Amino acid sequence: MLQTLRAKILFYFLLVSMIGILFVSFFIQWGFEESFKSYLDRNREKKIDRVIVAIEKDFEKNGRFTSDPIIGLHEFALTDQIYFQLYDRFGQLQMDSSSIRGMMNGLGLTEPVQNKDEWHTKTYRLNVDQTRIGKLVAIYPEGLIDDEYTFLQTIQLYIYVAVCLTIILAVLFSMVFSKKLTSGLKRLSYAAHELQLHNLGIRIPLKGLPDEVKQLAISFNNLAESLSKEEMLRKQFTGDLAHELRTPLATLRSQIEAFQDGIWEPTPQRLKQSHDELMRLVRLVNELEKLLAAENPQIKLEKTEMEAGSILADVWEMFLPIFNQRGIRLHFEEPDQEGWFRADKDRLIQILSNILNNALKYTTEGKTVCLSVRTDEEDYVGFQIKDEGAGMDDEDIPHIFERFYRGDKSRDRKTGGIGIGLSIVKALMDAHKGKIQVKSKLKKGTTVTLWFPKEE
Ligand SMILES: Nc1ncnc2c1ncn2[C@@H]1O[C@H](COP(=O)(O)OP(=O)(O)OP(=O)(O)O)[C@@H](O)[C@H]1O
Ligand SMILES: [Mg+2]
Repeated sequence: MLQTLRAKILFYFLLVSMIGILFVSFFIQWGFEESFKSYLDRNREKKIDRVIVAIEKDFEKNGRFTSDPIIGLHEFALTDQIYFQLYDRFGQLQMDSSSIRGMMNGLGLTEPVQNKDEWHTKTYRLNVDQTRIGKLVAIYPEGLIDDEYTFLQTIQLYIYVAVCLTIILAVLFSMVFSKKLTSGLKRLSYAAHELQLHNLGIRIPLKGLPDEVKQLAISFNNLAESLSKEEMLRKQFTGDLAHELRTPLATLRSQIEAFQDGIWEPTPQRLKQSHDELMRLVRLVNELEKLLAAENPQIKLEKTEMEAGSILADVWEMFLPIFNQRGIRLHFEEPDQEGWFRADKDRLIQILSNILNNALKYTTEGKTVCLSVRTDEEDYVGFQIKDEGAGMDDEDIPHIFERFYRGDKSRDRKTGGIGIGLSIVKALMDAHKGKIQVKSKLKKGTTVTLWFPKEE
């Protein structure tokens, strides 16, 4: 009983409507009856007053009671059921229109409809020039007479019809409103249940929802959206990982089986090939571990104040031997002004190393890689790494930060890339609230600029 919100709303809505309807109809009926009765009373008093004035005037004129005004009294008996008894100052009955009452009674017309027994008697003094000339007794029914009663009953009937119609409308509206009010919540609970059953595509339509529920529905939709995105990423990541593991594992397996079956002699060169594949797997796992650490939302950065020029000079010195070895020039442009900012030094070196490793990997002998500091953005300090290497297709640029994404797969398998370096860079830059700009032209070179906020 009253378990659901809809039933509760319906019940209280109906309760309030019913109480309202009953109060209003009761007061209208009671107020109307009372004022109608007092109107009738006032009307009767006025009529009696007129009778008294007429009798007094007639007495003043003639010095006695004549039949002229008395005839009028009989009229009241017939039309308004007011009966009169006129007494002179000695108490002698001069006229009695209540005798008609007995006659009318026979026709079943005179008795008051309500309170049959209650006839009311009221005595009025008759005076001429302040001397008492007699008294007039008015007899009239306490309740309502025929027409008055019928009139009151018609009004009552209208009130009852109005009450019934209002009750029907209240019930209908309560049902519609309670349904409308709870429909949003019903949609929400249905959607939550569907989400629980792993239907991640479920969304709540916002149309027609009240503001409070709409806010809740928007939050729910956002939650469902991010859950389905997470799910998609998870599936994609698992698929990509399996794919990445399959090739080196298959190569290793076939090589080892060939050694076992005696098809291949395990020469030092062949063993080195197998070892290289194994090392690639080891590197994959290491890189994944680094990525996992970088993408951890609770990543703890140990930020210190540092100067961009000196950091870049250190990195330049660190990478100089390997660039020389490959015959690529590594040029460091001395900055003409200091650029101070806050960052985690180890993570910053990790970011710069990844970018420099790419420049090294994708640049051919004899070309130049140039390092410089940028201070032309107001709130940021930038590191620019510009190479004259292979460059990238415009189509590749938006994807290079995705895990396992490699521009040219066949080339990169040879160069040993696994496509995680830039994913780590992106995750670490996000942790620093920094920005990355990549400009690249195929066969011309690539310029990567890493912007770190000064105040963080
Ligand atoms: N300087 C660059 N010049 C040309 N292409 C680049 C450069 N930097 C990145 N790329 C392209 O972006 C892709 C993704 O780079 P990312 O560093 O994530 O992976 P990777 O270098 O292939 O592998 P690793 O995980 O070993 O770094 C590369 O495969 C390459 O195609
Ligand atoms: Mg790389």
